Amino acid sequence: MIDPPADVCIVTFGCQMNKLDSQLLRGELLRAGFALTEDPDRARIVLYNTCSVRAHAENRVLSHLGAWRRRAGREPEFVLGVIGCMAQRLGGQLTRQFGHVRLVCGTRAFLRVPEYLRRLLAGEGTIVDTATDAPVRFRRAPAVRETPWQAHVSVMRGCDNFCSYCIVPYVRGREVSRPPDDVVRECEALAADGVREVTLLGQNVSGYGRGLPGEPVTLADLLERVNEVPGLVRIRFITSHPRDTSEDLLRAVARLDKVCRHLHVPAQSGADAVLARMGRGYTGSDYLRMTDRARELMPEVALASDFMVGFPGETEADFRDTLELVRRVRFQQSFVFKYSPRPGTRAARWPDDVPDEVKRARNQALLAAQEEVDRRRRSALVGQTLQVMVEGPSKADPARLCGRTGENDIVVFAGPRSLAGCLCRVRVIGATVLTLHGEAAGEVRTPGGAGCPALRERN
Ligand code: SAH
Ligand code: SF4
Ligand code: F3S
Repeated sequence: MIDPPADVCIVTFGCQMNKLDSQLLRGELLRAGFALTEDPDRARIVLYNTCSVRAHAENRVLSHLGAWRRRAGREPEFVLGVIGCMAQRLGGQLTRQFGHVRLVCGTRAFLRVPEYLRRLLAGEGTIVDTATDAPVRFRRAPAVRETPWQAHVSVMRGCDNFCSYCIVPYVRGREVSRPPDDVVRECEALAADGVREVTLLGQNVSGYGRGLPGEPVTLADLLERVNEVPGLVRIRFITSHPRDTSEDLLRAVARLDKVCRHLHVPAQSGADAVLARMGRGYTGSDYLRMTDRARELMPEVALASDFMVGFPGETEADFRDTLELVRRVRFQQSFVFKYSPRPGTRAARWPDDVPDEVKRARNQALLAAQEEVDRRRRSALVGQTLQVMVEGPSKADPARLCGRTGENDIVVFAGPRSLAGCLCRVRVIGATVLTLHGEAAGEVRTPGGAGCPALRERN
């Protein structure tokens, strides 16, 4: 044990995988005798878990790091560290640029952080580990979760797609899938611990199973097995690649009762020439065929996408193809990013020839088109009764509850706080930007579940 325990604060940037890694690391730190805090100013150790996907993500971290220089000069026992994707990408460059950064630990080695922190507390000056040969170890999520009934489960790490613009394969390494028995055992343990909704995570989750020894196994097979776990009510998975969102996978989502009908399948662009330069492996019409098929099997399915605007060589006509795709598919949500060249990727060798003001205008136009299709989609939900997993008080209106439908729509309605974690029926009475408003219409009895204790007490 460390006596007195040193307080560690982890500040997380980036995607869900990074958030999960931060949770896993919190678990490891607690086990190793450290204490945790959410307040960086009171922490003796501050770790940034970082993202490299766009220059903007990195610049934010760099300015945070700079801001600690004074405290580090004043308190020699203060430890500032950088972990995650940016640590992997920049390694020793970070300690050269910021003399007060004492730990740099990449994505493969992050579970060694507790050991490194002990060494730094014992007086070692600086440690940099960007090893790429450390074996990938999947760890169970510790009991430090954002809510007691929701958990993320890592099912694969890394990505082998090497889309021409993307840094992820370089910073996260090759794709490694976790054995299905191991995933199922974690889901069982989580369900026994009160978790009702699991989200299976992978950079490229629809490619799950490639390279696993033994009988071939796909994401559809894995979903089938997790669907059998007693006590679980909802299963989600992110993020899928359109190319391997197969007929088999769509059928599994349609057939399995616990799997949410919500697919996050980033299209990136609607223009064939751009998609080809991105190295995505599909055309706009391939993408439409996939989403049409999803709707044929599940008319209520919600589709979400990421888009990049201003990719090298993207013309006005290309951009119009993207707008057209958004209107045709009627996405529930689109995340739009301005292209940002990442050093070492293929696309970074091409001229970044779309001016920033054009990128900005396309970004806004795409968001406006998205808002319009989603407004129509959500208005059509008014009058329907939907199943909502209650997450807790609404942030905008704490007197009301906030929850999500299986299709990942946010619903706000009146009810007691004790409903948090329960699945309720909610009648939709109105829709505003990004939110449905509703009124409670009863509890949902879930197969294998005893129903919601909060509602039982009230009845
Ligand atoms: N693995 C996921 C997403 C990874 S990164 C997938 O393949 O879908 C999340 C999003 O960031 C991507 O979908 C893409 O839209 C965006 N992105 C990735 N690299 C980018 C870059 N160089 N510039 C701008 N946006 C980028
Ligand atoms: Fe990046 Fe493409 Fe892999 Fe997604 S699929 S993480 S965009 S390389
Ligand atoms: Fe960013 Fe790394 Fe995730 S680059 S998007 S935090 S995998």
